[in-house]
Amino acid sequence: MSDLSPTEAAVEPADAPQVPSTARMIDHWLGGTDHFPVDVAAAHAFEGAYGPCADIFRSLRGFLGRTVRHLGAAGIDSFLVFGAGVPTRGNVHEVAPSASVLYTDIDPVTIALGQRILAGADRAAYAYGDATDLSTIDPALLARYVPAWGRAPVGVVFLGLAAFLDDAALARTLDELYAAVPAGSRLAFDFDGLELAGHPEALAFMGEGFHMRDPAAFPALLGRWRPTADGISPVARWRPDGPPEDVPDAFHGGVAVK
Ligand SMILES: C[S@@+](CC[C@H](N)C(=O)[O-])C[C@H]1O[C@@H](n2cnc3c(N)ncnc32)[C@H](O)[C@@H]1O
Repeated sequence: MSDLSPTEAAVEPADAPQVPSTARMIDHWLGGTDHFPVDVAAAHAFEGAYGPCADIFRSLRGFLGRTVRHLGAAGIDSFLVFGAGVPTRGNVHEVAPSASVLYTDIDPVTIALGQRILAGADRAAYAYGDATDLSTIDPALLARYVPAWGRAPVGVVFLGLAAFLDDAALARTLDELYAAVPAGSRLAFDFDGLELAGHPEALAFMGEGFHMRDPAAFPALLGRWRPTADGISPVARWRPDGPPEDVPDAFHGGVAVK
C-alpha cells in the first residue's frame, strides 16, 4: 500500500500548481493531505510573518460544524457552499451526512481536487460557482444536489469568502443570494476581523484584494439577512459546545435568516 496521500499519488510533480491557494493552505493547517508543496511553502511563509495558524483554523472549522448542525436542527437538509475549498476535515457533508450538498469554488485546481474527493458520493458534489454570479452554477447540479432550491429553506454556507470581496461586491452578492432563496433559508457567514492589522508583514502577504472588517460594520453588509439572536461574534464564541478555544479573534461570524 502506498503511503502517498491521494493528491500526492494522483498528481505528477509537473502538473502540481505553482500558485498557492488559501483553501489548500487551510487543509495543510487542518492536518489534511489534499494540498501541494506550493501550499505548504506559502503556509510556512505566512506563519513566519504571523505565528502558528493550526489552532485558529481548527477553531474556524469547528464553527462551520456548529453552524451546519444548527441549520440541520432548523430542518435544513440542502446546502449550497460557496468558496468551498477542500471538502474534508469536518466539512458540510461530513457534519450532516444525510443532507445534500453542492460545494462550489472558482479555483480550477481546488475544484478538481474536490471532485476527486467526492467521486462516488451520493448526496455531495463539487462544481464551478462564482459566488458573485449565481448563473455560473450548473442548474442541473443545483436541482440534484440542493433539492430544496426554489421550494423550501436551504442552507447557504459562505465561509472564508468575504475577505475576497470588497464591500460593494459583498453586499450585492449577499443581497442576490437573499433574493434567490426561499423564506426561512439560513446563511452561515464569517469574515476576517482586524486581527492582521497588528501583523503588517502577514497582512502584506495577503495582497491588495484582501478585506478585513470591523465587526461593527458587518451587519450593514448583511442587508436584508437577519442575524439570529446569537448575533455576530468571534467564531470560537458562537454557540460553543464547551469552553471556547483560546485563539485570537481572527474570524467573526454567525447565522442569518431570510
Ligand atoms: C480562504 S478559502 C476558504 C475555503 C473554505 N471555505 C474553508 O473555510 O476552508 C477561500 C476560497 O474562496 C474561493 N473564492 C474566491 N473568490 C470566490 C468567488 N468569487 N466565488 C467563489 N469562490 C471564491 C477561493 O478559490 C478559495 O478556495
